[in-house]
Amino acid sequence: MCGITGYVGTGKASRYVFEGLKKLEYRGYDSCGIAAIDDIIRVKKDTGMIDEIEERIDLSELPGCIAIGHTRWATHGGVTVENAHPHLDCSGTIAVVHNGIISNYKELRKELEKKHRFTSDTDTEVLVHLIEENYKQNLEEAVINTLKRIKGTYALLVISSEEPDRIIVARKESPLLIGLGDGGNFVGSDVSAFLAHSRKAIPLDDDEYAVITGNSVEVKSIITGKKLDKDILEIELTEKAAMKEGYPYFMLKEIHEQPSTITSAQNIYPEEIRTVAEAMQKAEKIYLTGAGTSLHACEVAEYWFSKIAGKLVVAVDSSELENRAVVDNKTLVIGVTQSGETYDTLSAMRFAKKMGAEIGVIVNVIGSTATRFAEYVIMQSSGMEVSVAATKTYTSQLSVLLRLAIELAKLEGKDVKVIEKEFSSIPDKMRQVLSIEDEIKGKADSFFNVSNYLFIGKGINTPTAEEAALKLKEITYLHAEGMSAGLLKHGTISLIDENMSTIAFLPSDSENSAKMLSNIQEVSARDGRVLIISQGKVDEDEFISLPDTSEVLSPFIFSPVFQLLAYYVAVKLGRNVDKPRALAKSVTVE
Ligand code: M6R
Repeated sequence: MCGITGYVGTGKASRYVFEGLKKLEYRGYDSCGIAAIDDIIRVKKDTGMIDEIEERIDLSELPGCIAIGHTRWATHGGVTVENAHPHLDCSGTIAVVHNGIISNYKELRKELEKKHRFTSDTDTEVLVHLIEENYKQNLEEAVINTLKRIKGTYALLVISSEEPDRIIVARKESPLLIGLGDGGNFVGSDVSAFLAHSRKAIPLDDDEYAVITGNSVEVKSIITGKKLDKDILEIELTEKAAMKEGYPYFMLKEIHEQPSTITSAQNIYPEEIRTVAEAMQKAEKIYLTGAGTSLHACEVAEYWFSKIAGKLVVAVDSSELENRAVVDNKTLVIGVTQSGETYDTLSAMRFAKKMGAEIGVIVNVIGSTATRFAEYVIMQSSGMEVSVAATKTYTSQLSVLLRLAIELAKLEGKDVKVIEKEFSSIPDKMRQVLSIEDEIKGKADSFFNVSNYLFIGKGINTPTAEEAALKLKEITYLHAEGMSAGLLKHGTISLIDENMSTIAFLPSDSENSAKMLSNIQEVSARDGRVLIISQGKVDEDEFISLPDTSEVLSPFIFSPVFQLLAYYVAVKLGRNVDKPRALAKSVTVE
């Protein structure tokens, strides 16, 4: 899980690559480096965040019009300068950056160590020594011969001072896109790496490689060596999406974008939604699958499909789909993934495809891997999400999934006018919630002063509780658990004491809210402190009062509240909100 980028052309390459790395920093941020060719290859790399490294060693200042760079999230080998990429061969004439995992690196290293001097603990270093070994007079040939011996996953950029006009790039199960620019060409793990200079991209598919020069791009198959005709993707994203626009953190900006991102999801063409709803109607078994926040969106949707459309749809953790699901050619598996690059979710989708299932995906990132092999693709249109903590993309996923449930219900002849009308009012209700931000911040200051938290909900808000706990954990490093209120008394309640506070999501008057109130009493009776986030009136000391909706739509209203609570607690604790420790935006490893 790393970011890689490269440039070749007439401009100052290390500057372009540095800019690209800053955009990719969300993919990993424990170390980074750049290699550029002038007459020789020069490398600068160090541990830490990109701006700190720039300050220390002028990372962006390398001579030459061709460069490659890497921002790392450590997998093989600790966070050290030696393990940072780029890696060089023994002669210092070949440089490589790599995102992925070489699974047979131990055997290869053992073999290569007889002749080559290794300087890092990474799996990547075998690549550069193997290319060195295979290099006769042609870099392209050397890379391809190397890839034939490699097992595992890779997005790879290779340069050599022997052929200083080209970058050889290759891809297998790790994302890579080529950006076509004026006066030079780019390559990156996603389009944000070159969006400021190019709106035309060629996404590479698995087992493809390319030779990129300043004025040409040639894509070929790694397996057959044949030249491929690739479509050029026109990118509509604006660079503005990658700016904070006055907010101190991207997370806060992205939380505030939700009324408009929900509206965008409401405006996705009805035909796109209908096609997938029809596939759902036909399928005998339907699974929704995702990881982290995307899994929680699937779990909320499971309730919608059953309550609104009367259809059994099962939400499964994508890392467990292969273990749990019964998949055959009458099954539809819909992956839900913001990035479209999450290893677990892609593996689940690949497994399902192999078993003969139809594959759909709800995804945010244009040109991402998930969009390349699903039969049905719904782009959730949330715009770029930079903060590692998912916020606006969660409520957009919810919006798309709700639209699918409503469409499926229509196909089943059900009357959905009431819920459709209410759904259209959600962006305005969300604005009302965001207008009480100061009150929410006040609760973050006054209530969140212990180190353990329980989030509880019932029915459709059980996943709300799980998502709230995830948000708090990932950006504050405080311990939190989310669960159904009913489950509490079956064990967890014994944890209630002065160090464990409870946050309860209470929807408007409903059978569930009445039951929740008695669960809350059980916590209070054990001297547990409770904060109630409520859509109805409550007779408690600690509460946040929210606009009313039907219970089925309440997950939309609760979301900005727990997101803002987590945000303000993290700010209070001095955390790096957008880049929490040990995490990266897309988890592209198993
Ligand atoms: O890109 P994806 O939606 O597939 O990512 C899945 C999870 O890694 C992601 O939601 C993660 O849990 C977020 N950091 C949560 O905020």
